[in-house]
Amino acid sequence: MERTPVGIILNGVTGRMGYRQHLVRSLLAIRDQGGVPARDGSRIWPELTLVGRDAGRLAEIAERHGLSAYTCDLDAALADDANQIYFDAQVTAQREKAIRAAIEAGKHVYTEKPLAEDFLASLELARLAAAKGVRNGVVQDKLFLPGLRKLKRLVDGGFFGRILSVRGEFGYWVFEGDWQDAQRPSWNYRAEDGGGITLDMFPHWHYVLEQIIAPVTAVTAVTATHIPERVDENGARYRPTADDAAYGIFELAGGVVAQINSSWAVRVHRDELVEFQVDGTHGSAVAGLRDCRIQHRGATPMPVWNPDLPVTEPFRAQWQTVPDNGEHDNAFKVQWEAFLRHVVDDEPFPWDFLAGARGVQLAEAGLRSAREGRRVRIEEIPR
Ligand SMILES: NC(=O)c1ccc[n+]([C@@H]2O[C@H](COP(=O)([O-])OP(=O)(O)OC[C@H]3O[C@@H](n4cnc5c(N)ncnc54)[C@H](O)[C@@H]3O)[C@@H](O)[C@H]2O)c1
Repeated sequence: MERTPVGIILNGVTGRMGYRQHLVRSLLAIRDQGGVPARDGSRIWPELTLVGRDAGRLAEIAERHGLSAYTCDLDAALADDANQIYFDAQVTAQREKAIRAAIEAGKHVYTEKPLAEDFLASLELARLAAAKGVRNGVVQDKLFLPGLRKLKRLVDGGFFGRILSVRGEFGYWVFEGDWQDAQRPSWNYRAEDGGGITLDMFPHWHYVLEQIIAPVTAVTAVTATHIPERVDENGARYRPTADDAAYGIFELAGGVVAQINSSWAVRVHRDELVEFQVDGTHGSAVAGLRDCRIQHRGATPMPVWNPDLPVTEPFRAQWQTVPDNGEHDNAFKVQWEAFLRHVVDDEPFPWDFLAGARGVQLAEAGLRSAREGRRVRIEEIPR
């Protein structure tokens, strides 16, 4: 079958996200399946150039996967007309500079979240991309996860009646790095390197709430740095300067109240690493990454508060599992396919830089709320 090659620069490909989710699980998987169907009957075919700081590690990854193009010179990759898309999975603090260069070079840009370290910089990237007329997108992977797709289906099908509230619980224990290795890179715990759980997770909560429930109109947050000392990748002790937990209350349009706890200092007593409970007048749901369970108003038990008696109801057993009703591919891959169709066939792609900027706006508002001890209203961004 005829191929429509699309040159993609992958920057940050030695990192956790860049390698596993974007290179292996998305772009190489797309090649393995023979590309993405284009409107003209051909297959969109990613041609990859790996970019990073360490030529040896890039060469090793390239060889492992039968690729040939890699370089430590981003400018040279950007100067090559065969490359149409720039993708960024670098540490957050390095992102803005690289994306500016890519836009300047006229490349379409797709990037990991957060789009930039602050709201103004994110807005400026959105403005620059629009002015240059390049396609742009930000990873919003949670929307494509089976559990959240099922939740969206329930909302679209009117299952909840009037939605009242959302309760989200995200987190797990990230080891301190002394007696067991930390399972997240140390930059996550340094504010000066773009770290912090608020900047990391509020952009996710923003699009999950906005696109599945309702737009966020205000935030009240308390943040904490619960673990005062950690040990980095080189065995050196350091003092975290960024928040490792954020406790947020999000007010949504239509009066819905969402509370989401995000923490890297919590032990999991849940079925999944993130779960959202949505309560509505007609029914409730608990959605995780993969599964979603529901309880309809007609099947709602009538608990009576009496601490003198043992629990009378098997509460968890009273929920029903929502069926898959379809195939659910890797979330990052599904969004990559949409971005490639956006570039090649002009298919709609609503998860653009402006959407990404709104995520950073919420993170910044959350941090301000915590710093100033007050509720912060979210201003609408005019298009
Ligand atoms: N969508 C998601 O669910 C999700 C999950 C985790 C991380 N992320 C985002 O992905 C990005 C990368 O996170 P990660 O966990 O893969 O990080 P990582 O530390 O594993 O990888 C970072 C990458 O950036 C490169 N890099 C470039 N300049 C650097 C510098 N000056 N210092 C350190 N590394 C540098 C590294 O070589 C590496 O390839 C972050 O922006 C993060 O917010 C997204």
